[in-house]
Amino acid sequence: MSTSVQIVKIIQPESSILFLASKESQLEKKAGLNDAQVAFVKKAIGNKRKPIVLNDGNRFLFVVFNEDKEKGSKADEQWRKDACSVIAMCNSNKLEEIAFVNLTGKKRITTLAVEGALLGNYQFLKYRTGEKKDGINTLKNITIPASDADKSEIEEVQITSQAALIARDLVNEPLSYLTAEQLSKDIQKLGKEAGFSVEVFNKAKIQSLKMGGLLAVNLGSPNPPTFTILEWKPGRVKNKKPYVLVGKGVVYDTGGLSLKPTPGSMDTMKCDMSGAAAVACSIYAIAKAKLRVHVIGLIPATENRPGGNAYVPGDVLTMHNGSTVEVLNTDAEGRLILADALSYAMQYKPELVIDLATLTGAAARAIGPEGIVYMSTAGRKVNDALEASGKNVYERLVKFPLWDEYDNYIKSDIADVKNIGGPNAGAITAGMFLKRFTDYPWVHLDIAGPAFLDKADGYRLKNGSGVGVRLLFDFLKSNAS
Ligand code: BES
Ligand code: ZN
Ligand code: ZN
Repeated sequence: MSTSVQIVKIIQPESSILFLASKESQLEKKAGLNDAQVAFVKKAIGNKRKPIVLNDGNRFLFVVFNEDKEKGSKADEQWRKDACSVIAMCNSNKLEEIAFVNLTGKKRITTLAVEGALLGNYQFLKYRTGEKKDGINTLKNITIPASDADKSEIEEVQITSQAALIARDLVNEPLSYLTAEQLSKDIQKLGKEAGFSVEVFNKAKIQSLKMGGLLAVNLGSPNPPTFTILEWKPGRVKNKKPYVLVGKGVVYDTGGLSLKPTPGSMDTMKCDMSGAAAVACSIYAIAKAKLRVHVIGLIPATENRPGGNAYVPGDVLTMHNGSTVEVLNTDAEGRLILADALSYAMQYKPELVIDLATLTGAAARAIGPEGIVYMSTAGRKVNDALEASGKNVYERLVKFPLWDEYDNYIKSDIADVKNIGGPNAGAITAGMFLKRFTDYPWVHLDIAGPAFLDKADGYRLKNGSGVGVRLLFDFLKSNAS
């Protein structure tokens, strides 16, 4: 269930409150604290305690204090994280409602706190049965005095947070529910709700389009593949040529016949459609916020399994663009289905194509869950804007090179290219493979590190993170205004 946010004229006197403060003097007048409480809070600030908690009769008062001199994305992130830790305390104390009172005079800080709170108050409860309410979050409502809030900022952060939480839901859904066809159905539902169009190609259509990569990966699975096209095109748009977002939709990755070798490494592979979730949910947010940008989403989806007629190492595939690929590892399947989608994207003559994929363990090993590995042929302006968005939403990006020399790593003896490189530079050779299927400005985001977390990091909770949704929204918003 989602957390509601209400902008109110006055806060109910019995409501618990989170005070956001950046100077000690702010606590004295505006907050309505008594002298003993002010003294207590000041002492706690001196001891760098956070959040500061006061028992005030039958309600709680929390104070989060971040000094003004900190600026930029790190300071923004601190407000999100601190709000999230207050939310956790609200839930452990079974509170249903909290008011956010911003003493700093900067309305944006309220927005950041709301963002951290909404993202931090998430749980995936669909498969919990029975009456036991243990451990289920109680917090349902956040109220904000109108004077502390920028109404349109709050509305927007509600949209983007909700979209990120829907992405988390999709990632957290197991294969027993979320097959490729179900993913497409869920995306159709999102389209109906937000007002973007959705077209789903079935296996016959995918065959007629000769998407040899997607079809090969699907061979070992009892369930058919899908190829889903999303489009948001409002009346007046800033861009003549569309932005195209491509998301890897491997709803489960066993590795195929090159079965995942390390014990446990398969356990979280329901997350292998995180790129698809990011594409669908960022377009959902863009449509809900009615951004004036023309954007198209392409989502190739299938399981990667070793059953029946599974493709085998040594197979040569003919891809959607007519080129050939020698398969030397069936676990390098993401690049095969993305390649078909990337060449399909050419017909749009796009302004820019961005793909998102949980593509390589190498990217995850290189920088962990702290950021996104990216490669780009889109040039400095796009790269800078994307990196700036990464900082804004604290989904930071690190650029890896696409030097020509890496092409030697994926030369095949018998086909145009092979689907794996050597032991080195695994994230890059995957990028080099994809690059062959593009003829437009292109950015590749390898989200294998941050897509699915083995432990919580503030409001980025354990399991599906929803990474990419807020990033793409922020980036496309900056291009729409
Ligand atoms: N889905 C995996 C990559 C992955 C690993 C995602 C860890 C999330 C967390 C991808 O399909 C894969 O198996 N990649 C192989 C490629 C290799 C065989 C060249 C990998 O990274 O090991
Ligand atoms: Zn794989
Ligand atoms: Zn995969």
